[in-house]
Amino acid sequence: MDQLDWKSLPFGYVKTNYNVRCYYRNGAWGELEISSSEHISMHMAATALHYGQEAFEGLKAYRGVDGKIRLFRVEENAMRMAKTAAYISMAVPPIDLFVSAVKKAVSLNTEFVPPYESGASLYIRPLLIGTGPQVGVKAANEFLLVIFATPVGPYYKQGFSPIDIVIERDTDRAAPMGTGHVKVGGNYAASLPAQEKAHQLGYAAVLYLDACEKKYIDEAGTANFFAIKNNTYITPDSQSILPSITNKSLIQLAEHLGMKVERRKIAVDELPTFEETGACGTAAVISPINKIDDKENNKSYTFCKDNKAGPISHKLYKHFIGIQYGEIPDPFNWITILDEK
Ligand code: PLP
Ligand code: COI
Repeated sequence: MDQLDWKSLPFGYVKTNYNVRCYYRNGAWGELEISSSEHISMHMAATALHYGQEAFEGLKAYRGVDGKIRLFRVEENAMRMAKTAAYISMAVPPIDLFVSAVKKAVSLNTEFVPPYESGASLYIRPLLIGTGPQVGVKAANEFLLVIFATPVGPYYKQGFSPIDIVIERDTDRAAPMGTGHVKVGGNYAASLPAQEKAHQLGYAAVLYLDACEKKYIDEAGTANFFAIKNNTYITPDSQSILPSITNKSLIQLAEHLGMKVERRKIAVDELPTFEETGACGTAAVISPINKIDDKENNKSYTFCKDNKAGPISHKLYKHFIGIQYGEIPDPFNWITILDEK
């Protein structure tokens, strides 16, 4: 491969050597297959194309301080994909199959795992699609699971530097009893116009509110929202947000570090009372929020002094990535070390 400039990698697609595939046909999952093609051939009436039978996941592999490759909470992604698949009537990939496919996809592309301290990582994208044809609205009877990997840099070009976001009131990414809590492509399609508008205005992401009352905070673009107040980690309780594995881990970490944790509804009106706020997710890691603008109400909330992350977000971030890179012991059993022999 051509030498990549690891330090300036964007969050984008870079071709790697292989991907791993598994087909579900005649009611059963087949063997894992290795492919070097970047393309998928499927029927033009595949349900993924017409009726949105599509689920995906995102997780990362890191080259640690000891040179070993670490996968972060791969079983959690397996379980979330299983939930998504079941929710939209797709064949559910068994947890073991998903985990072995991810491990295989990383093992086949180890040269693309960025070096320790490059700030980059290997992003793994599991994708599940309905490939069987239907014309009436019905679930497919054939599915394809593909796992590809691609080296990435930070999702927000600012990296750990604070981001500015804007409250979105004109659109919702998902309905309260809809698909917001699962990872289907349609949620992201629904978020594109708001995201494009926010980017044009210079914001890194939008902050979604609850779809019913527009009173409570939901999540921040492709990341969950958290706030810090009185040594307490506070994060929204909502049916329409994706249950973030990063957020779940930060909750554990915050408790481990002696903080209190509250998962509850967070009213927009509470924003001025917070000491720090942030967005968290696999791609976003922890992105401290500098400023939240509420244009409709002519309000702006600023959380960072001199555009610097607050001390608690900084501490959580250091500890979190310390575990991911093997610099700090992992008391939570989050890490799977890849066997590279
Ligand atoms: N919310 C949305 C809408 C997302 O797309 C993601 C990314 O997966 C997250 C939150 C963060 O979830 P996780 O920490 O599991 O990556
Ligand atoms: C992730 O954090 O894995 C995401 O889903 C973000 C986005 C690239 C979809």
